[in-house]
Amino acid sequence: MAEVNPSKPPILVTGGAGYIGSHAVLALEAAGYPVVILDNLVYGHADLIKAHSQAELVVGDTTDRALLDQLFQAHRFGAVMHFAAYIAVGESVTAPAKYYHNNVVGTLTLLEAMLAAEVKRFVFSSTCAIYGPPKTIPIPEDHPQNPISPYANSKLMVEKMLEDFDQAYGLRSVRFRYFNAAGADPLGRLGEDHSPETHLVPLVLLAALGKRPDISIFGEDYETPDGTCLRDYVHVADLAAAHVRGLDYLLAGGASEVFNLGNGNGFSVKQVIETARRITGREIVAKVCDRRAGDPPSLVGGSAKAQKILGWQPQYADLDAIIRHAWQWHQQRHG
Ligand code: UFG
Repeated sequence: MAEVNPSKPPILVTGGAGYIGSHAVLALEAAGYPVVILDNLVYGHADLIKAHSQAELVVGDTTDRALLDQLFQAHRFGAVMHFAAYIAVGESVTAPAKYYHNNVVGTLTLLEAMLAAEVKRFVFSSTCAIYGPPKTIPIPEDHPQNPISPYANSKLMVEKMLEDFDQAYGLRSVRFRYFNAAGADPLGRLGEDHSPETHLVPLVLLAALGKRPDISIFGEDYETPDGTCLRDYVHVADLAAAHVRGLDYLLAGGASEVFNLGNGNGFSVKQVIETARRITGREIVAKVCDRRAGDPPSLVGGSAKAQKILGWQPQYADLDAIIRHAWQWHQQRHG
């Protein structure tokens, strides 16, 4: 485990026991930051964090103002990195209250507690889902915002709050709009383990392991080269590295900014399945089903702005590395 650096301030990481948050915790520790995690463990995994990080894990909710006040009194946080959110797009359509409560009310409560404690640096997990169906590919940061799910609405609402809080209270934020997070820690310590799982890469690998009978392809009649949806898969370790750079940028006095995080390459559902067959050497049965509601045909974004301003350079920009690391993790966790 990495040594913390006494000159670096402690960072509060909400959702630090979740998929992307846990990878960010390890990246922060490797960069010398002491970390305190706040996670309600509804979806997070305490075992992984305890095994691989020195971070203090506080089990609780971002909607719990008294707990937040206690935390901000006990630590002089230099910044907050906020991953805690519900993320299932489909569920958000049938249970929007759950999403607005956790993702919007929870974030507002957290921001108010930060202001009370005079902590004014915030790194936020946003999503390319706030753009809605793209009008141009690759999608730039100034693309119009037309979210089509309560999940995406909840993320955009927080983005708006952050713009207003910057103006009114000087709260500086970096907002990262991820494309499709995938892959796992290259050292095999962490990976994706959602329950229920809805994401393509882990589902394909669970099929390769025989934990699922097959993988459904949601539609092959899209206007894309092979008829299946194109997505920009970005390695979770690269996302984590971007967060550390975003934090360093804010702590060095950087102004509020928004960045897309993607690789600028679209891979189809069929290409992901083919790549997984090649890398795993296993049979993966795929069956074509109807389209899934709300899926845009193509979501691809670049990261020129993050590369220019933050000096972020993805280390694992190819789909092979993403699937290889995810496979290593899945075999170990579910094999
Ligand atoms: N897909 C299948 N079969 C499956 C699962 C997914 O064909 O069993 C397809 C989907 O239709 C989509 C692609 O694989 O075309 C990727 O789907 P994911 O569910 O893995 O990811 P999404 O693109 O739907 O959503 C992800 C995150 C969201 C985020 C969004 C932004 O889960 O939180 O990216 O693009 F908002």
